[in-house]
Amino acid sequence: MKKIILILIGAAFFSSCNHEQEKTYWDYMGDFDMYYSKAYESYSPNKYLKDGSTLQLPVQGTVPREFIPYPFKDKFKDKTLAGKLLKNPFQPTKENLLRGKEKYDIYCAVCHGTTGQGDGPIATLEKNGKKLYPVPPANLKAGYIQAKPDGEIFHVITMGSAVMGAHGSQIKSDDRWKIVLYIKNGLKVN
Ligand code: HEC
Repeated sequence: MKKIILILIGAAFFSSCNHEQEKTYWDYMGDFDMYYSKAYESYSPNKYLKDGSTLQLPVQGTVPREFIPYPFKDKFKDKTLAGKLLKNPFQPTKENLLRGKEKYDIYCAVCHGTTGQGDGPIATLEKNGKKLYPVPPANLKAGYIQAKPDGEIFHVITMGSAVMGAHGSQIKSDDRWKIVLYIKNGLKVN
């Protein structure tokens, strides 16, 4: 008896799959919008919006939640000033260093390496004996970087540097400060 029940359940399960997608079947409530969604795909054109695109820019003057507008505009000229004026609001506690390491390993280690010496996988990539990434990433353990005020490193992460891209829109402000703590702690947690 048990066997028969199992076979019946199995048959019901497999027969419920429609393997012939090209064939039309009856729909339950098929005429309703929620059954066949009429939503636009993010990257599809859109005739109802002014610029014809479904993806829209945020309204001018608005900021995302938890986003703090950055007061400096120039990545080179304002670096020293940012170093003077900005203070790291966090202490190098184990928790903060761990968070800094987590974010560093995600966003920075590809170039600067997990040890910070500039030997990440992107920086060491070679083709026909030639390095594919043109400029060596800075060695973050070097004396001149370790001597920088926290605000200056924060500025570099936020705005980018000569070749390095800006990370201000990808990493939350708190996490950028914690990355700075982790770097200034010699890329160690303790
Ligand atoms: C795509 C590669 C790449 C990534 C990712 C990257 N960097 Fe860099 N970084 C570089 C390169 C190349 C340089 C040296 C040339 C320059 O200054 O742009 C550099 C320079 C630096 C400097 C020295 C700037 C100075 O004032 O001389 C610091 C500090 C730094 N990076 C920190 C970071 C941190 C922290 C992250 C992660 C949030 C990060 N970088 C992510 C490539 C990268």
